Amino acid sequence: MREQRVRGGAGADDADTAGSGDVRLRLPSPDNIPRHVAIIMDGNGRWARERGLPRVAGHRSGMRTVRRIAMAAARIGVKVLTLYAFSTENWKRPKSEVDYLMKLPQEFLAIELEELIANNVRVRVMGSRQGLPGHTLAAVDEAVRRTADNTGLILNFALNYGSRAELVEAARELARRVKAGELDERAIDEQTIASCLSTADLPDPDLLIRTSGELRISNFMLWQLAYSELWFTDVYWPEFTERHFYDAICEYQRRVRRYGGL
Ligand code: FPP
Repeated sequence: MREQRVRGGAGADDADTAGSGDVRLRLPSPDNIPRHVAIIMDGNGRWARERGLPRVAGHRSGMRTVRRIAMAAARIGVKVLTLYAFSTENWKRPKSEVDYLMKLPQEFLAIELEELIANNVRVRVMGSRQGLPGHTLAAVDEAVRRTADNTGLILNFALNYGSRAELVEAARELARRVKAGELDERAIDEQTIASCLSTADLPDPDLLIRTSGELRISNFMLWQLAYSELWFTDVYWPEFTERHFYDAICEYQRRVRRYGGL
């Protein structure tokens, strides 16, 4: 484990979170950095309620955490950071909250896209395009296009994403290929199924983080998380800092992954 002195430290770029002065930030060892970290960003609403703020204020603050953690991931050489930004179940929320959540990608990218480009970050999106407003799609499409050639961190937003829906789509695609005579059903194996998912060209997550104390997977990357290490924290997403992120990775580095073996 290394230590590095950073100015401001946890939450230094976010007026909504605590942290002032110098703090010691423990950096994970460079030897065993997870290639893919996936995060269920939870607790925005509770963070806001506890401060007497509207729920959307929590989402807005959560947007700033996205920037902080993307930069922290890029800094230590994580290859892929997947963030659960909107699930297929989130449409059940009040329309005003859904509308706000649909504006966030646009707002985030308006503020951050140039910096993401400067940091060689590649933006990607997974999930269904169906039902997403035109302004949301236009913003993410532009970010995907303008960062397509970047070779650094892949910042993968799960937007209107549900893992079961993704698996249903994969099953349909395989059935279509079998029916068309393009695929022998006996040739279907784990690789064939993985190749039909939106993560076909990405490694499976090594580490899943969920904030806010909830101990659930919530229809997130059910196939891909088969052998991921899980790390939960009570910290709400708006208060999640580089320090928490690196603590999770340090803990990951202490784990022994056996993949069912001994
Ligand atoms: C869960 O918290 C969070 C969400 C459903 C939305 C997550 C979105 C962001 C963090 C901002 C996304 C930013 C970009 C750039 C797309 P919750 O509302 O369920 O919290 P609660 O459980 O405390 O109510």
